[in-house]
Amino acid sequence: MAFSWQDAQEREKAFYDTIYRYNRGDIPSYRPFTPERCIAFAKKTVERFGYTMDAFAGKTLADIGCGPHGIISGLELATAGTRLLPQRMYGIDPLMDTYRTYAEYGVLKENSTIRLITAKGERIPLPDESCDFVFCTNAVDHVQEPERVIQEARRVCRAGGAFCMALHVVNPVWTWLRPVLFLVDRNHPHHFRTDAVLRLARKYFERVTVCARISVVEDHPEFTFAYIRKSAHKLRAVKRWMSNLILTFLYVRCEK
Ligand SMILES: C[S@@+](CC[C@H](N)C(=O)[O-])C[C@H]1O[C@@H](n2cnc3c(N)ncnc32)[C@H](O)[C@@H]1O
Repeated sequence: MAFSWQDAQEREKAFYDTIYRYNRGDIPSYRPFTPERCIAFAKKTVERFGYTMDAFAGKTLADIGCGPHGIISGLELATAGTRLLPQRMYGIDPLMDTYRTYAEYGVLKENSTIRLITAKGERIPLPDESCDFVFCTNAVDHVQEPERVIQEARRVCRAGGAFCMALHVVNPVWTWLRPVLFLVDRNHPHHFRTDAVLRLARKYFERVTVCARISVVEDHPEFTFAYIRKSAHKLRAVKRWMSNLILTFLYVRCEK
């Protein structure tokens, strides 16, 4: 646990400000998203869940805890003006007002496809069974009440639809560290074990599949031991290298 969800959210906001407003991203994987990076991120994410970019043509999807771009920006940029465009995409994030306030974040404008909503995943302001797909990447371990978010994802998901969540889980040999991880990793209010998160998913969804297990270094090639020597911020680089040992990024598709 972080000290509190509010504390973690303050850190989250400061982290994004550093990248987008102050342009101080210290490594390439923490630089502002360009349209090309938005598309690459969306493609990589949906493929890790076992989909292709055309799977969402004419569908309705929500991205819970989408951040400034989530998968929505990339999907829109890649499919606008084609028959592959989803019918409706909801971007839901408690920090959405902040992301929208500053032009530097480059948040997409709302249009007939995109709706951006300032809300928490614990209380999604959408009707029951209104979405074909609900995504939540790198956010279930950032929310205040993960179980409530999974329950809400089920509520808004249509029968036959899917909830796709990706989150950092603690590697088995390091689970004994969980009670103190919040001291070094204060952006995450939760540090899940794989079995615990799968148990929660199975409580609310009929079919739960682990689609991918991705090492942290695959998404952040700078989080290596060798990079510590090159880095101007040694302590930060050590923490990043350690996160690579301790955490794995788990992609879980939950079908209703
Ligand atoms: C690490 S970012 C991930 C952003 C994006 N999904 C991505 O993969 O790049 C975590 C996001 O979760 C959001 N978040 C935190 N608590 C939340 C909650 N209770 N409900 C929904 N989103 C939440 C944060 O505001 C932040 O934008």
